[in-house]
Amino acid sequence: MSLPPGFLDELRARTSLSQVVGRKVIWDNRKSNQAKGDMWAPCPFHQEKTASFHVDDRKGFYYCFGCHAKGNAFTFVQETENVGFMEAVEILAREAGMQMPARDPRAQEKADHASQLAKATEAAVAHYRLQLKTAAASEARAYLERRGLTQATLERFEIGFAPAQRQGAFTALTGKGVPADHVIEAGIATRPDDGGAPYDAFRDRITFPIRDPRGRCIGFGGRAMDPNARAKYLNSRETPLFDKGRALYNHAPAREAAGKSQPLIVAEGYMDVIALVQAGFEAAVAPLGTAITEDQLQLLWRIAPEPIIALDGDKAGLRAAMRLIDLALPHLGPDRSLRFCIMPEGQDPDELIKAKGAKAMQDALDAAEPLVNLLWRRETEGQVFDTPERRAGLDRRLRQAVGRINDPSLKRHYGEALAEMRRTLFRPARGTQGRNTGWRGRGFAEAAMPLAYTRALATTLDGEGLRVSLILATLCRFPDLIDQFEDRLERMLARNEGQARLANFLLATPQRDAEALRAEISSAGLGETLESIEATGHLRIAPFLSGTGDIEKAATCLAEEFAKHAAAHAIEEEMAEALEDLGHVTDEEDATLAFRLNQAVRSKHAALSPREGGGAEQFGDTEEARAAFHELLNSAGRAKKSR
Ligand code: UTP
Ligand code: MN
Repeated sequence: MSLPPGFLDELRARTSLSQVVGRKVIWDNRKSNQAKGDMWAPCPFHQEKTASFHVDDRKGFYYCFGCHAKGNAFTFVQETENVGFMEAVEILAREAGMQMPARDPRAQEKADHASQLAKATEAAVAHYRLQLKTAAASEARAYLERRGLTQATLERFEIGFAPAQRQGAFTALTGKGVPADHVIEAGIATRPDDGGAPYDAFRDRITFPIRDPRGRCIGFGGRAMDPNARAKYLNSRETPLFDKGRALYNHAPAREAAGKSQPLIVAEGYMDVIALVQAGFEAAVAPLGTAITEDQLQLLWRIAPEPIIALDGDKAGLRAAMRLIDLALPHLGPDRSLRFCIMPEGQDPDELIKAKGAKAMQDALDAAEPLVNLLWRRETEGQVFDTPERRAGLDRRLRQAVGRINDPSLKRHYGEALAEMRRTLFRPARGTQGRNTGWRGRGFAEAAMPLAYTRALATTLDGEGLRVSLILATLCRFPDLIDQFEDRLERMLARNEGQARLANFLLATPQRDAEALRAEISSAGLGETLESIEATGHLRIAPFLSGTGDIEKAATCLAEEFAKHAAAHAIEEEMAEALEDLGHVTDEEDATLAFRLNQAVRSKHAALSPREGGGAEQFGDTEEARAAFHELLNSAGRAKKSR
């Protein structure tokens, strides 16, 4: 569509940027000077507490001194409403009361036709509202009162009543000059297949007008008064105006309230929305008798980055949430997610508010869970992961879910978050498993890991292998320390089978005399293993291992090395699991990832472990540890000399 010359200029002139921006921010009144059109607020484009977002209302420009976001009313609407340029123009033109030029003749015709039908629905709104005031509606009025709807709420939601008449609305509307065809095409009445007289779509029902974001009435919801009615709720059928998968109940008012930083709440039904709004939660919407569709998700995200889905706490509610998660995954992004508010005791928001008040609703909203939690719950709740197969099954499902996220950065963060949850779930409870589960556990994790990453880890983490050797050699030299470090030794991750067997042996043997221990190690067939551990290049520089040494210094150093080992292991595991959960990658991405992993592990490792070049640094990189190491060396030397 092309805009006539001068249209945008006129629109710019009629638009106040501070008014447009004002719906999304809270002005800093002290810093702002309204008279000069010089307005300041915390930036809507990044998280901050101070007001670095500046609007020059006269020039029609904004600029953020924090994140450098800048632009005009059009870009602002595009960014905040998540719409294209033309749609932003449309939104601003509507607000400025300017008629958008017609798209093309056929679209214009369609629009004109829809406007005609909207006249029929508007007439129906007025008709039903009038009916609610008649004697025929006394039961309906009593019912609404019982449900706690105030007079103001009835007005605000334009609630009406369709009496139990075959042709009440049809006769009234046509009597007012609305063409019969329009009454039927707008879904107010139905013409039977046999060509008989048209009959009203809503009979003996309370009516809820449904309006589109522009405020046009596109259809109705009707709640049966008769508890035995075929359907408790009936919605207008699909018409040129009404596409229920693309509409939201209370859309425009909710959008406005959300703009004033009310949380956007998605409830299940009409009465929930009404109860929420009446309780002060004005940004409430509901789908129209169907599960939330992809189109509706997009509409929600145009209103708020993280709508809160209010769910019945029952099985059906949770099932609906799970389907919604699947629907949402491919579309998630940094500014497009969902939270889930699971209502207590299987109540819906209407019931909760009625039973426990607005405060209880607020508490439930505050406890809303992020999508990632529900995803995790779906895959794990009520399940047991006691076999490699079951764990691998979980890994696969998580990988598949994460793989469906398209946003690369978010995908990575989901991988990491789920890996963290998985780690917590699988963290071995102390004492429940065999000793030195570390090594065995490691072997399992490695088997599940893509080869490239295993290799990358292996080449970059050799330093940990040396550290483990150093720890084992020190413990063999000072067996009295085994008890003190028993639990850490248990959790230590051996790098090879020899280390693992020696560690297990140390944990299992009660021998605390160094010489005798050495003999026992030999007779257990681990003599060569110990020798090779001691012979490892870097260890030769630790002569204290052959002297009498100073057991306290040795303990200090062991504590230090165990701590670094644990830290390095945590990082390593985190990386491995994050990568594992990333989903499928191409060969090229695979290589890049492996490289990046390498770099990451290297840098983390460098931060944790001895500097290159051997020598004293082998035993620590903090000043304190180094000093302790030198002390140890010296005392070992002194002990030797004195012998
Ligand atoms: P519910 O059965 O949960 O009803 O349906 P509700 O909203 O709690 O209604 P009240 O409190 O009994 O009045 C939730 C939504 O599902 C759709 C409606 O949109 C309803 O608001 N629905 C339900 C139908 O479309 N048809 C039905 O027969 C029932
Ligand atoms: Mn209800």
